[in-house]
Amino acid sequence: MNNNPASQTGADAQDFTSIVRLEGVQKFFGPVQALRDIDLAIGRNEIVGLIGDNGAGKSTLIKVMTGVLEPTAGRIYVRDREVDLADYSVRMAHDLSIETVYQDRSLAEKQPLWRNFFVGRQITNRFGFIDVRAEKAIAEDILKRAIGFRGAGITVDSTVANLSGGERQGIAIGRAMHYNADLIILDEPTVALAVKEVRKVLDFVRRIKDSGRAVIYIEHNLAHVHDVADRLIVLDRGRIVAEIAPKDMSVMDLTEFLIALQQDHIG
Ligand SMILES: Nc1ncnc2c1ncn2[C@@H]1O[C@H](COP(=O)(O)OP(=O)(O)OP(=O)(O)O)[C@@H](O)[C@H]1O
Ligand SMILES: [Mg+2]
Repeated sequence: MNNNPASQTGADAQDFTSIVRLEGVQKFFGPVQALRDIDLAIGRNEIVGLIGDNGAGKSTLIKVMTGVLEPTAGRIYVRDREVDLADYSVRMAHDLSIETVYQDRSLAEKQPLWRNFFVGRQITNRFGFIDVRAEKAIAEDILKRAIGFRGAGITVDSTVANLSGGERQGIAIGRAMHYNADLIILDEPTVALAVKEVRKVLDFVRRIKDSGRAVIYIEHNLAHVHDVADRLIVLDRGRIVAEIAPKDMSVMDLTEFLIALQQDHIG
């Protein structure tokens, strides 16, 4: 099943070099400049780590990219086509196969798992009723294949409130994968998770890439992001100051690099 208009356009849809590209993006909040001269292209099949100090502009960058915030200036291209910024919205980003997974806001706590896959996107039968059987069957498939939950007693009827943090994160990621998102953005998915859970989430991230999609992964824990990312973008006071291939820099050197940036602020 595929509810996604952008991915139904066939050959055309495959014909692009970047999923999203920002060009000369600036974002002001009153006198505060949160983003400066941002040029960034996200290709297919890559995991891009977005790192930087608190207040560096990471969340603002993805909000601009996903239509939550309008940039003060600059251009945004989705699949190489410029979008009209006055029209760009979260809804449109969804329709263009861009999904964001947040730590807490993604799932409805009191609902069973299967319902969570279809929030705002119900499957209805010819009488206009929700097709529970079809939805459960699809949810089952996502659980087994996209997420790879086996055993552990988790079924489509499990209540979200009873799942661990890592499992919830996996469900939110599985849902984004099911809707065929070309780009999945994760804003600190491992925050407040136990070590075992973190490993699960990192496995999910790799799985997204294996399925031919791209990931932007915002993370404070440098070891985690260094482990999974193909490239790291470093933001500092609203500016992209470095692009690093993890294989070229150890976690320790990366840590020192970021500390030096911070000291730069003070000095
Ligand atoms: N809605 C807003 N109104 C005013 N200022 C804002 C707003 N959102 C962000 N800012 C400012 O923009 C700058 C960048 O914030 P942003 O949230 O993007 O940082 P971040 O890199 O995500 O930080 P963190 O790692 O703490 O999440 C900060 O100086 C912040 O105070
Ligand atoms: Mg943030």
